[in-house]
Amino acid sequence: MMQQIKMNKILVTGGLGYIGSHVVVELQKMDFEVVIIDDLSNSSLEVLGHIKEITGIKPGFEKIDLKEKRDVARFFNRHADFDGIIHFAASKAVGESVNNPLKYYENNINSLIYLLEELNKLASPKLIFSSSCTVYGQADKLPITENSPIKGAESPYGNTKIMGEQIIKDCCKANHSLQSIILRYFNPIGAHDSANIGELPVGVPQNLVPFITQTGIGVRGELSVFGNDYPTPDGTCIRDYIHVVDLAKAHVVAIKRLLEKKNLKNREFFNIGTGKGASVLDVVKAFEAVSGIKLNYVFKDRREGDVVSAFADISKANKVLGWKSELSLKDALASAWKWEKKLNLNENTI
Ligand code: WQD
Repeated sequence: MMQQIKMNKILVTGGLGYIGSHVVVELQKMDFEVVIIDDLSNSSLEVLGHIKEITGIKPGFEKIDLKEKRDVARFFNRHADFDGIIHFAASKAVGESVNNPLKYYENNINSLIYLLEELNKLASPKLIFSSSCTVYGQADKLPITENSPIKGAESPYGNTKIMGEQIIKDCCKANHSLQSIILRYFNPIGAHDSANIGELPVGVPQNLVPFITQTGIGVRGELSVFGNDYPTPDGTCIRDYIHVVDLAKAHVVAIKRLLEKKNLKNREFFNIGTGKGASVLDVVKAFEAVSGIKLNYVFKDRREGDVVSAFADISKANKVLGWKSELSLKDALASAWKWEKKLNLNENTI
C-alpha cells in the first residue's frame, strides 16, 4: 500500500487579496495544501474559483475576521494542524491610513496579536510576515540593504509594518519555538499570466501601475505624475517594481526554509525586489512599449509622503534564500495590461 505522503498544510491569511492569491497559486503548484482565511473586506470570494481555474485545486476557505479574538481562537481550535502560516491580512492603502489611522492600528495590529496568541499554542509555529520597504522611509544609502536603518514610516500603514516587525521580534525572543521570516516587499505590480487573478483596486487606484492601466484602457482620462522636480535623472521618483509572481515565489522559498529548518535564527528578514530602480517616466515608457498605447499624462505637484528613490539590494535574498526575481518590468506591465483588458472585457460583456 503506497504510503500517502502528507502534504504540508499552509494557512494563508488574506489569501484572496492581490499578493495572497498569487502566493496561494505558487504554493499549490509546489504541492502544498492551502487553507485561506479572509474577511472579504477588500477581496472577493470569486478569487477562490479563479485560483482553481489556474491550479485545478480549490483552496480551503473560511471567512474569518482576525480582529475578532474569539473567532480566531475557535478557528485554531478546529485547525491545529498547520505546518506554516503566511500572514497577509491587513489594510494597505497608504493614503487612507493617513485619514483613518485607528482603522489601520486596530486592523493591522490587533489581527497580528490575536494570530500570534494562537501560534504560541502550536508546537512549532512557522510564520512568514508581509512587511514593506516603506519601513526604511527615505534611505540615506541606495540600494537599500536589510541593515539600512528603520527610519520611521511616512504613514500609519507603514508604522503598522514597523510595529508588526517589532511585535514578532519580541514574540520570537519570548518563544524560541516561534520561527519567522519577514519579507520586506518593494513595489509589487503585474498579474498572473492567465489573467485569472490580479490587482483589484477599490475605487480610484492609489498605486501607479493600476492607474496607468486604467488610463490606458480609458477608465481614467489621464495619469497625474506626482512631481517631476525630484533630484533624479528625469525628475520623477524611482521605485523597485517587482512582478507579483516573482514576489509570490519568494514566499514559497521562505516557508520551505522554515519547514526544512534551514533558518539560522528564529527571526530572519529579507528585502524582496528586483534590485533595479525605475522612475515613473521609465514605467510610463515601458507601458507604452508593451501596450502600443500613447499614455495621456500630466505633471502635477509632488505627493505628500513620497520618498525620492527606493530600490533594493537583493544580495541577501539571492545568497541566503537562493531566490532572485526573473521577470522584467516589461513582463510585469504586459501582465498588468492583459489583466486590465480582461477586467474591462468582463465589464463590457455584463
Ligand atoms: C509609486 C510612484 C508616486 C500614482 C506604496 C506603499 C507600499 C506598497 C506599494 C502596500 C510614486 C507615483 C503614483 C499616481 C504617480 N503598498 N505615482 N501617479 O507609494 O511607492 O508604495 O504602494 O503594500 O508599501 O508605500 O507606490 O505606486 O503609490 O507610487 O505619479 O497616480 O508613482 O508618486 O513616486 P509607493 P505607488
